[in-house]
Amino acid sequence: MKLKTIILAAGQGTRMKSSLPKVLHKLGGFALLEHVFNLAASLGCEETSVIYGHGGERVPSELGYLNANWVEQKQQLGTGHAVMQVADSIGDDQTTVLVLYGDVPLLRKATVQNLLDRTDENTLALLTIDLDDPFGYGRIVRNPATNRIARIVEEKDASESEKRLTEVNTGIVAVPGNLLRKWLSELKNDNAQGEYYLTDIIALAVRQGCRVESVRALDPEEVLGINDRVQLAYLERVYQRRQAVALMTAGVTLKDPERFDLRGQIVQLGRDVEIDIDVILEGRISLGDSVRIGSNCVIRNTRIGDYVEVLPYSLIEGAEIGDFSRVGPFARIRPETEIADHVHVGNFVEIKKSCVGSGSKINHLSYIGDATIGTRVNIGAGTITCNYDGVNKYRTVIEDEVFVGSDTQLVAPVTVRKRSTIGAGSTITKDTPEDQLTLSRSKQCTIKGWVRPKKRSA
Ligand code: UD1
Ligand code: CA
Repeated sequence: MKLKTIILAAGQGTRMKSSLPKVLHKLGGFALLEHVFNLAASLGCEETSVIYGHGGERVPSELGYLNANWVEQKQQLGTGHAVMQVADSIGDDQTTVLVLYGDVPLLRKATVQNLLDRTDENTLALLTIDLDDPFGYGRIVRNPATNRIARIVEEKDASESEKRLTEVNTGIVAVPGNLLRKWLSELKNDNAQGEYYLTDIIALAVRQGCRVESVRALDPEEVLGINDRVQLAYLERVYQRRQAVALMTAGVTLKDPERFDLRGQIVQLGRDVEIDIDVILEGRISLGDSVRIGSNCVIRNTRIGDYVEVLPYSLIEGAEIGDFSRVGPFARIRPETEIADHVHVGNFVEIKKSCVGSGSKINHLSYIGDATIGTRVNIGAGTITCNYDGVNKYRTVIEDEVFVGSDTQLVAPVTVRKRSTIGAGSTITKDTPEDQLTLSRSKQCTIKGWVRPKKRSA
Protein backbone atom coordinates (compact mmCIF):
# COMPACT_ATOMS: atom_id res chain seq x y z
CA MET A 1 0.00 0.00 0.00
CA LYS A 2 1.12 3.55 -0.73
CA LEU A 3 0.98 6.05 2.08
CA LYS A 4 -0.44 9.55 1.93
CA THR A 5 -0.53 11.80 4.95
CA ILE A 6 -2.92 14.61 5.72
CA ILE A 7 -1.84 17.03 8.42
CA LEU A 8 -4.65 19.06 9.95
CA ALA A 9 -3.34 22.52 10.72
CA ALA A 10 -6.13 24.98 10.00
CA GLY A 11 -7.26 25.59 13.56
CA GLN A 12 -6.95 28.97 15.19
CA GLY A 13 -5.01 28.32 18.35
CA THR A 14 -6.77 31.15 20.21
CA ARG A 15 -5.32 30.13 23.55
CA MET A 16 -1.77 30.75 22.36
CA LYS A 17 -2.74 34.47 22.43
CA SER A 18 -0.33 35.06 19.60
CA SER A 19 -0.21 36.74 16.23
CA LEU A 20 1.81 33.77 15.03
CA PRO A 21 -0.27 30.83 13.71
CA LYS A 22 -0.08 28.05 16.29
CA VAL A 23 1.70 25.48 14.13
CA LEU A 24 4.54 27.94 13.51
CA HIS A 25 5.42 28.13 17.20
CA LYS A 26 8.71 26.39 17.83
CA LEU A 27 9.54 23.34 19.85
CA GLY A 28 13.17 22.29 20.03
CA GLY A 29 13.97 24.88 17.36
CA PHE A 30 11.53 23.53 14.76
CA ALA A 31 7.99 24.68 14.03
CA LEU A 32 5.36 22.35 15.49
CA LEU A 33 4.18 21.54 11.98
CA GLU A 34 7.72 20.70 10.93
CA HIS A 35 7.95 17.97 13.57
CA VAL A 36 4.78 16.41 12.20
CA PHE A 37 5.90 16.79 8.60
CA ASN A 38 9.25 15.17 9.36
CA LEU A 39 7.49 12.25 11.01
CA ALA A 40 5.39 11.71 7.88
CA ALA A 41 8.50 11.95 5.71
CA SER A 42 10.32 9.41 7.89
CA LEU A 43 7.52 6.91 7.26
CA GLY A 44 8.21 6.94 3.53
CA CYS A 45 5.07 8.84 2.81
CA GLU A 46 4.42 9.44 -0.88
CA GLU A 47 2.56 12.71 -0.48
CA THR A 48 1.92 14.92 2.53
CA SER A 49 -0.92 17.39 2.36
CA VAL A 50 -1.08 20.15 4.91
CA ILE A 51 -4.51 21.67 5.54
CA TYR A 52 -3.93 25.23 6.62
CA GLY A 53 -6.37 28.02 7.36
CA HIS A 54 -5.87 30.36 10.28
CA GLY A 55 -2.83 32.49 9.75
CA GLY A 56 -3.44 32.24 5.99
CA GLU A 57 -0.49 32.16 3.65
CA ARG A 58 1.94 32.72 6.47
CA VAL A 59 2.07 29.00 7.20
CA PRO A 60 2.98 27.79 3.67
CA SER A 61 5.23 30.77 3.06
CA GLU A 62 7.29 30.32 6.23
CA LEU A 63 7.57 26.56 5.80
CA GLY A 64 7.74 26.63 2.02
CA TYR A 65 10.92 24.55 2.08
CA LEU A 66 8.90 21.52 3.20
CA ASN A 67 7.92 19.37 0.26
CA ALA A 68 4.21 19.47 1.07
CA ASN A 69 0.97 19.77 -0.83
CA TRP A 70 -0.44 22.96 0.74
CA VAL A 71 -4.23 23.10 0.78
CA GLU A 72 -6.21 25.94 2.23
CA GLN A 73 -9.36 25.27 4.26
CA LYS A 74 -10.99 28.68 4.04
CA GLN A 75 -13.61 28.02 6.73
CA GLN A 76 -12.94 25.59 9.54
CA LEU A 77 -16.06 23.46 9.58
CA GLY A 78 -14.55 20.52 11.45
CA THR A 79 -11.96 17.80 11.16
CA GLY A 80 -14.05 15.89 8.60
CA HIS A 81 -14.40 19.05 6.52
CA ALA A 82 -10.62 19.56 6.74
CA VAL A 83 -9.97 16.12 5.27
CA MET A 84 -12.61 16.73 2.58
CA GLN A 85 -10.32 19.43 1.15
CA VAL A 86 -8.13 16.68 -0.29
CA ALA A 87 -10.81 14.03 -0.90
CA ASP A 88 -10.11 14.03 -4.63
CA SER A 89 -6.50 12.99 -4.28
CA ILE A 90 -6.86 10.12 -1.79
CA GLY A 91 -9.36 7.91 -3.48
CA ASP A 92 -7.46 4.94 -4.86
CA ASP A 93 -7.65 1.51 -3.29
CA GLN A 94 -3.90 1.08 -3.05
CA THR A 95 -3.50 4.03 -0.71
CA THR A 96 -3.55 4.22 3.06
CA VAL A 97 -4.33 7.69 4.36
CA LEU A 98 -2.76 8.74 7.63
CA VAL A 99 -4.31 11.68 9.43
CA LEU A 100 -2.03 13.64 11.77
CA TYR A 101 -2.52 16.89 13.68
CA GLY A 102 -0.15 19.80 13.08
CA ASP A 103 -0.18 20.68 16.78
CA VAL A 104 0.76 17.20 18.07
CA PRO A 105 4.53 17.32 17.69
CA LEU A 106 5.91 14.43 19.75
CA LEU A 107 4.23 11.44 18.21
CA ARG A 108 6.70 8.55 17.89
CA LYS A 109 7.49 6.94 14.59
CA ALA A 110 7.19 3.44 16.11
CA THR A 111 3.68 4.20 17.35
CA VAL A 112 2.51 5.36 13.94
CA GLN A 113 4.23 2.44 12.26
CA ASN A 114 2.32 0.15 14.59
CA LEU A 115 -0.90 1.85 13.50
CA LEU A 116 -0.04 1.48 9.81
CA ASP A 117 0.84 -2.18 10.27
CA ARG A 118 -2.72 -2.82 11.47
CA THR A 119 -4.32 -1.15 8.43
CA ASP A 120 -5.30 -2.92 5.22
CA GLU A 121 -7.85 -2.61 2.38
CA ASN A 122 -10.71 -3.27 4.77
CA THR A 123 -9.27 -2.20 8.14
CA LEU A 124 -8.80 1.20 9.64
CA ALA A 125 -6.66 1.75 12.72
CA LEU A 126 -7.16 4.37 15.38
CA LEU A 127 -4.69 5.62 17.96
CA THR A 128 -6.30 5.87 21.40
CA ILE A 129 -5.15 6.49 24.95
CA ASP A 130 -6.54 6.11 28.44
CA LEU A 131 -6.64 9.34 30.39
CA ASP A 132 -7.48 9.88 34.06
CA ASP A 133 -9.13 13.10 33.00
CA PRO A 134 -10.71 12.54 29.58
CA PHE A 135 -12.53 15.89 29.57
CA GLY A 136 -12.73 17.54 26.17
CA TYR A 137 -11.76 14.50 24.14
CA GLY A 138 -13.83 12.28 21.90
CA ARG A 139 -14.61 9.07 23.83
CA ILE A 140 -14.12 5.63 22.37
CA VAL A 141 -17.37 3.72 22.67
CA ARG A 142 -16.88 -0.05 22.52
CA ASN A 143 -19.44 -2.75 21.88
CA PRO A 144 -19.94 -4.37 25.31
CA ALA A 145 -20.39 -7.83 23.80
CA THR A 146 -17.27 -7.87 21.61
CA ASN A 147 -15.24 -5.07 23.16
CA ARG A 148 -14.62 -3.81 19.63
CA ILE A 149 -14.86 -0.11 18.84
CA ALA A 150 -18.38 0.94 17.85
CA ARG A 151 -18.09 4.70 17.45
CA ILE A 152 -16.58 7.91 18.84
CA VAL A 153 -18.67 10.41 20.71
CA GLU A 154 -17.44 13.98 21.18
CA GLU A 155 -17.52 15.58 24.66
CA LYS A 156 -20.27 17.98 23.68
CA ASP A 157 -22.45 15.19 22.31
CA ALA A 158 -21.74 12.63 25.04
CA SER A 159 -24.22 11.31 27.58
CA GLU A 160 -23.28 11.28 31.26
CA SER A 161 -22.26 7.62 31.12
CA GLU A 162 -20.25 8.16 27.93
CA LYS A 163 -18.45 11.05 29.61
CA ARG A 164 -17.16 8.57 32.18
CA LEU A 165 -15.32 6.57 29.50
CA THR A 166 -11.59 7.11 29.87
CA GLU A 167 -10.38 5.74 26.55
CA VAL A 168 -10.16 8.71 24.19
CA ASN A 169 -9.53 9.45 20.57
CA THR A 170 -6.14 10.99 19.88
CA GLY A 171 -7.31 12.04 16.42
CA ILE A 172 -4.53 10.08 14.75
CA VAL A 173 -5.97 7.51 12.37
CA ALA A 174 -4.95 5.41 9.35
CA VAL A 175 -7.68 4.64 6.83
CA PRO A 176 -7.90 2.90 3.42
CA GLY A 177 -8.11 5.76 0.91
CA ASN A 178 -11.06 4.64 -1.18
CA LEU A 179 -13.22 3.97 1.88
CA LEU A 180 -12.26 7.27 3.48
CA ARG A 181 -13.29 9.12 0.36
CA LYS A 182 -16.66 7.39 0.36
CA TRP A 183 -17.27 8.04 4.06
CA LEU A 184 -16.33 11.71 3.75
CA SER A 185 -19.20 12.14 1.29
CA GLU A 186 -21.56 10.62 3.88
CA LEU A 187 -20.58 12.87 6.82
CA LYS A 188 -23.27 15.11 8.29
CA ASN A 189 -22.96 18.07 10.64
CA ASP A 190 -26.06 17.38 12.73
CA ASN A 191 -24.23 17.48 16.07
CA ALA A 192 -23.77 19.81 19.03
CA GLN A 193 -21.12 21.87 17.27
CA GLY A 194 -22.61 21.84 13.76
CA GLU A 195 -19.29 20.51 12.45
CA TYR A 196 -18.29 17.74 10.10
CA TYR A 197 -16.60 15.33 12.49
CA LEU A 198 -13.96 13.07 11.04
CA THR A 199 -14.66 10.80 13.99
CA ASP A 200 -18.05 9.90 12.52
CA ILE A 201 -16.28 7.68 9.97
CA ILE A 202 -15.83 5.12 12.74
CA ALA A 203 -19.54 4.38 13.07
CA LEU A 204 -19.83 4.35 9.26
CA ALA A 205 -16.98 1.86 9.03
CA VAL A 206 -18.53 -0.44 11.63
CA ARG A 207 -21.93 -0.25 9.93
CA GLN A 208 -20.40 -1.10 6.56
CA GLY A 209 -18.46 -4.11 7.84
CA CYS A 210 -14.99 -2.54 7.85
CA ARG A 211 -12.70 -3.62 10.69
CA VAL A 212 -11.70 -1.01 13.24
CA GLU A 213 -8.45 -1.71 15.06
CA SER A 214 -6.93 0.37 17.79
CA VAL A 215 -3.43 1.01 19.06
CA ARG A 216 -2.73 2.56 22.45
CA ALA A 217 -0.22 5.40 22.58
CA LEU A 218 2.83 4.71 24.77
CA ASP A 219 2.43 7.80 26.89
CA PRO A 220 0.15 10.88 27.00
CA GLU A 221 2.99 13.17 25.90
CA GLU A 222 3.25 11.67 22.44
CA VAL A 223 -0.38 12.43 21.66
CA LEU A 224 -0.68 15.71 23.52
CA GLY A 225 -1.81 18.58 21.34
CA ILE A 226 -0.56 22.05 22.09
CA ASN A 227 -3.24 24.60 22.84
CA ASP A 228 -1.45 27.13 25.02
CA ARG A 229 2.03 28.19 26.04
CA VAL A 230 1.95 26.13 29.22
CA GLN A 231 1.56 22.97 27.16
CA LEU A 232 4.19 24.23 24.72
CA ALA A 233 6.71 24.64 27.55
CA TYR A 234 5.77 21.27 29.00
CA LEU A 235 6.31 19.44 25.70
CA GLU A 236 9.52 21.38 25.11
CA ARG A 237 10.90 19.77 28.30
CA VAL A 238 9.63 16.35 27.27
CA TYR A 239 11.31 16.78 23.89
CA GLN A 240 14.56 18.00 25.42
CA ARG A 241 14.60 15.05 27.81
CA ARG A 242 14.11 12.66 24.89
CA GLN A 243 17.01 14.28 23.04
CA ALA A 244 19.21 14.23 26.11
CA VAL A 245 18.57 10.52 26.58
CA ALA A 246 19.34 9.87 22.91
CA LEU A 247 22.61 11.79 23.19
CA MET A 248 23.70 10.07 26.38
CA THR A 249 22.86 6.73 24.78
CA ALA A 250 25.07 7.77 21.87
CA GLY A 251 27.97 8.34 24.28
CA VAL A 252 27.72 12.00 25.28
CA THR A 253 28.24 12.98 28.92
CA LEU A 254 25.64 15.52 29.97
CA LYS A 255 26.41 16.86 33.43
CA ASP A 256 22.70 17.48 33.91
CA PRO A 257 20.28 16.29 31.23
CA GLU A 258 17.60 18.58 32.70
CA ARG A 259 19.78 21.58 31.94
CA PHE A 260 20.60 20.94 28.30
CA ASP A 261 18.82 22.26 25.21
CA LEU A 262 19.28 21.25 21.63
CA ARG A 263 17.21 23.47 19.34
CA GLY A 264 18.18 21.92 16.08
CA GLN A 265 20.24 18.94 15.15
CA ILE A 266 23.62 17.44 15.86
CA VAL A 267 24.63 16.39 12.38
CA GLN A 268 27.90 14.79 13.36
CA LEU A 269 28.92 13.50 16.75
CA GLY A 270 32.31 12.24 17.92
CA ARG A 271 33.09 10.03 20.91
CA ASP A 272 33.39 11.18 24.52
CA VAL A 273 31.83 14.59 24.11
CA GLU A 274 31.26 16.25 27.47
CA ILE A 275 28.72 19.01 27.99
CA ASP A 276 28.36 20.95 31.22
CA ILE A 277 25.12 22.50 32.48
CA ASP A 278 23.00 25.16 30.80
CA VAL A 279 24.41 24.75 27.33
CA ILE A 280 22.19 25.62 24.36
CA LEU A 281 22.98 24.15 20.95
CA GLU A 282 21.07 25.63 18.02
CA GLY A 283 20.75 24.89 14.31
CA ARG A 284 23.14 22.42 12.73
CA ILE A 285 25.95 21.43 15.03
CA SER A 286 28.87 19.14 14.51
CA LEU A 287 30.96 17.98 17.46
CA GLY A 288 34.24 16.10 17.09
CA ASP A 289 35.80 13.57 19.44
CA SER A 290 36.38 14.59 23.06
CA VAL A 291 34.89 18.04 22.64
CA ARG A 292 34.27 19.69 26.00
CA ILE A 293 31.74 22.45 26.35
CA GLY A 294 31.69 24.44 29.56
CA SER A 295 28.59 25.70 31.30
CA ASN A 296 26.36 28.45 29.91
CA CYS A 297 27.62 28.34 26.33
CA VAL A 298 25.38 29.04 23.35
CA ILE A 299 26.57 27.45 20.12
CA ARG A 300 24.73 27.87 16.85
CA ASN A 301 25.36 26.41 13.36
CA THR A 302 28.94 25.55 14.12
CA ARG A 303 31.41 22.79 13.38
CA ILE A 304 33.72 21.95 16.24
CA GLY A 305 36.74 19.72 15.68
CA ASP A 306 38.31 17.03 17.84
CA TYR A 307 39.60 17.81 21.35
CA VAL A 308 38.27 21.36 21.29
CA GLU A 309 37.53 22.96 24.60
CA VAL A 310 34.90 25.68 24.83
CA LEU A 311 35.10 27.34 28.21
CA PRO A 312 32.06 28.73 30.08
CA TYR A 313 29.91 31.63 28.88
CA SER A 314 30.99 31.59 25.26
CA LEU A 315 28.72 32.40 22.33
CA ILE A 316 29.70 30.84 19.01
CA GLU A 317 27.70 31.27 15.83
CA GLY A 318 28.25 30.22 12.22
CA ALA A 319 31.85 29.22 12.82
CA GLU A 320 34.34 26.42 12.41
CA ILE A 321 36.73 25.59 15.19
CA GLY A 322 39.70 23.36 14.36
CA ASP A 323 41.08 20.44 16.35
CA PHE A 324 42.73 21.06 19.74
CA SER A 325 41.66 24.70 19.86
CA ARG A 326 40.42 26.42 22.98
CA VAL A 327 37.79 29.13 23.07
CA GLY A 328 36.61 31.21 26.02
CA PRO A 329 35.65 31.78 28.73
CA PHE A 330 33.47 34.72 27.68
CA ALA A 331 34.39 34.58 24.01
CA ARG A 332 32.11 35.67 21.20
CA ILE A 333 32.69 34.07 17.82
CA ARG A 334 30.47 35.49 15.11
CA PRO A 335 29.46 34.13 11.68
CA GLU A 336 31.93 33.32 8.93
CA THR A 337 34.77 32.77 11.32
CA GLU A 338 37.19 29.94 10.68
CA ILE A 339 39.51 29.04 13.47
CA ALA A 340 42.22 26.53 12.59
CA ASP A 341 43.74 23.91 14.89
CA HIS A 342 45.65 24.59 18.13
CA VAL A 343 44.32 28.16 18.34
CA HIS A 344 43.63 29.87 21.66
CA VAL A 345 40.89 32.46 21.88
CA GLY A 346 40.54 33.84 25.37
CA ASN A 347 38.23 35.93 27.48
CA PHE A 348 36.37 38.94 26.14
CA VAL A 349 37.53 38.35 22.60
CA GLU A 350 35.12 38.97 19.74
CA ILE A 351 35.93 37.57 16.31
CA LYS A 352 33.82 38.22 13.23
CA LYS A 353 34.19 37.05 9.62
CA SER A 354 37.84 36.20 10.09
CA CYS A 355 40.25 33.34 9.60
CA VAL A 356 42.70 32.52 12.34
CA GLY A 357 45.64 30.30 11.37
CA SER A 358 46.99 27.30 13.18
CA GLY A 359 48.70 27.88 16.53
CA SER A 360 47.72 31.53 16.82
CA LYS A 361 46.67 33.12 20.10
CA ILE A 362 44.23 35.92 20.81
CA ASN A 363 43.95 35.63 24.52
CA HIS A 364 42.49 38.79 26.01
CA LEU A 365 40.08 41.64 25.29
CA SER A 366 40.25 41.93 21.51
CA TYR A 367 38.03 42.71 18.55
CA ILE A 368 39.05 40.93 15.37
CA GLY A 369 36.74 41.71 12.44
CA ASP A 370 37.23 41.06 8.71
CA ALA A 371 40.73 39.80 9.32
CA THR A 372 42.98 37.08 8.00
CA ILE A 373 45.44 35.92 10.59
CA GLY A 374 48.28 33.58 9.68
CA THR A 375 49.86 30.80 11.70
CA ARG A 376 51.56 31.15 15.11
CA VAL A 377 50.51 34.79 15.42
CA ASN A 378 50.29 36.35 18.86
CA ILE A 379 47.73 39.09 19.27
CA GLY A 380 48.36 41.09 22.43
CA ALA A 381 45.68 42.04 24.91
CA GLY A 382 43.31 44.78 23.83
CA THR A 383 44.17 44.66 20.13
CA ILE A 384 41.45 46.04 17.89
CA THR A 385 41.00 45.79 14.15
CA CYS A 386 39.45 49.07 13.00
CA ASN A 387 37.56 47.52 10.13
CA TYR A 388 34.89 50.16 9.61
CA ASP A 389 35.27 53.78 8.57
CA GLY A 390 31.63 54.57 9.20
CA VAL A 391 30.67 53.65 5.65
CA ASN A 392 32.66 50.66 4.42
CA LYS A 393 34.35 47.64 5.92
CA TYR A 394 37.97 46.72 5.15
CA ARG A 395 40.20 43.73 5.74
CA THR A 396 43.18 43.38 8.00
CA VAL A 397 45.83 40.84 7.04
CA ILE A 398 48.22 39.61 9.68
CA GLU A 399 50.77 37.23 8.24
CA ASP A 400 52.50 34.24 9.86
CA GLU A 401 54.39 34.57 13.14
CA VAL A 402 53.53 38.20 13.70
CA PHE A 403 53.62 39.53 17.26
CA VAL A 404 51.15 42.33 17.90
CA GLY A 405 51.83 44.23 21.14
CA SER A 406 49.00 44.97 23.53
CA ASP A 407 46.53 47.77 22.95
CA THR A 408 47.23 48.07 19.26
CA GLN A 409 44.78 49.44 16.71
CA LEU A 410 45.10 48.05 13.21
CA VAL A 411 43.38 50.50 10.86
CA ALA A 412 42.14 48.53 7.85
CA PRO A 413 42.88 48.04 5.07
CA VAL A 414 46.30 47.14 6.32
CA THR A 415 48.75 44.24 6.14
CA VAL A 416 51.14 43.27 8.88
CA ARG A 417 53.86 41.31 7.13
CA LYS A 418 55.50 38.07 8.19
CA ARG A 419 57.25 38.02 11.52
CA SER A 420 56.67 41.75 12.12
CA THR A 421 56.54 42.87 15.70
CA ILE A 422 54.23 45.73 16.60
CA GLY A 423 55.09 47.74 19.70
CA ALA A 424 52.41 48.01 22.34
CA GLY A 425 49.97 50.89 22.10
CA SER A 426 50.50 51.46 18.36
CA THR A 427 48.02 52.70 15.82
CA ILE A 428 49.00 50.97 12.60
CA THR A 429 47.71 52.65 9.45
CA LYS A 430 50.31 51.50 6.90
CA ASP A 431 51.57 48.04 5.94
CA THR A 432 54.50 46.93 8.07
CA PRO A 433 57.73 45.40 6.71
CA GLU A 434 58.65 41.76 7.38
CA ASP A 435 60.83 40.89 10.36
CA GLN A 436 60.95 44.47 11.71
CA LEU A 437 59.71 46.17 14.84
CA THR A 438 57.14 48.81 14.01
CA LEU A 439 55.52 51.11 16.49
CA SER A 440 53.64 54.38 16.48
CA ARG A 441 53.54 56.02 19.79
CA SER A 442 54.30 59.50 21.12
CA LYS A 443 57.50 59.61 23.09
CA GLN A 444 57.17 59.30 26.82
CA CYS A 445 58.24 62.37 28.73
CA THR A 446 58.29 63.54 32.32
CA ILE A 447 57.26 67.11 33.19
CA LYS A 448 59.79 68.63 35.51
CA GLY A 449 58.52 70.50 38.53
CA TRP A 450 54.94 69.20 38.23
CA VAL A 451 53.11 68.79 41.49
CA ARG A 452 49.89 66.97 42.10
CA PRO A 453 47.09 69.47 42.93
CA LYS A 454 45.97 69.47 46.54
CA LYS A 455 42.40 69.23 47.67
CA ARG A 456 41.03 72.71 48.37
CA SER A 457 39.77 73.23 51.89
CA ALA A 458 36.18 74.44 52.07
C1 UD1 B 1 -10.66 16.25 17.94
C2 UD1 B 1 -11.50 14.99 17.81
C3 UD1 B 1 -11.61 14.32 19.17
C4 UD1 B 1 -10.23 14.03 19.73
C5 UD1 B 1 -9.39 15.31 19.77
C6 UD1 B 1 -7.97 15.01 20.13
C7 UD1 B 1 -13.11 15.39 16.02
C8 UD1 B 1 -14.49 15.76 15.70
N1 UD1 B 1 -12.80 15.34 17.32
O1 UD1 B 1 -11.38 17.11 18.79
O2 UD1 B 1 -12.33 13.10 19.05
O3 UD1 B 1 -10.35 13.50 21.04
O4 UD1 B 1 -9.39 15.93 18.47
O5 UD1 B 1 -7.29 16.19 20.30
O6 UD1 B 1 -12.33 15.13 15.14
N2 UD1 B 1 -8.71 21.32 12.38
C9 UD1 B 1 -8.67 21.78 11.10
N3 UD1 B 1 -9.80 22.22 10.52
C10 UD1 B 1 -11.00 22.22 11.17
C11 UD1 B 1 -11.02 21.74 12.49
C12 UD1 B 1 -9.87 21.29 13.07
O7 UD1 B 1 -7.62 21.79 10.46
O8 UD1 B 1 -11.99 22.63 10.56
C13 UD1 B 1 -7.47 20.82 13.01
C14 UD1 B 1 -7.03 21.64 14.20
O9 UD1 B 1 -6.13 22.66 13.79
C15 UD1 B 1 -6.34 20.61 15.07
C16 UD1 B 1 -7.07 19.32 14.73
O10 UD1 B 1 -7.71 19.54 13.50
O11 UD1 B 1 -4.98 20.43 14.71
C17 UD1 B 1 -8.08 18.96 15.79
O12 UD1 B 1 -8.97 20.00 15.93
P1 UD1 B 1 -9.55 20.39 17.34
O13 UD1 B 1 -10.49 21.50 17.16
O14 UD1 B 1 -8.46 20.53 18.31
O15 UD1 B 1 -10.39 19.05 17.63
P2 UD1 B 1 -11.17 18.71 18.94
O16 UD1 B 1 -12.49 19.33 18.86
O17 UD1 B 1 -10.31 18.99 20.10
CA1 CA C 1 -7.91 19.88 20.42
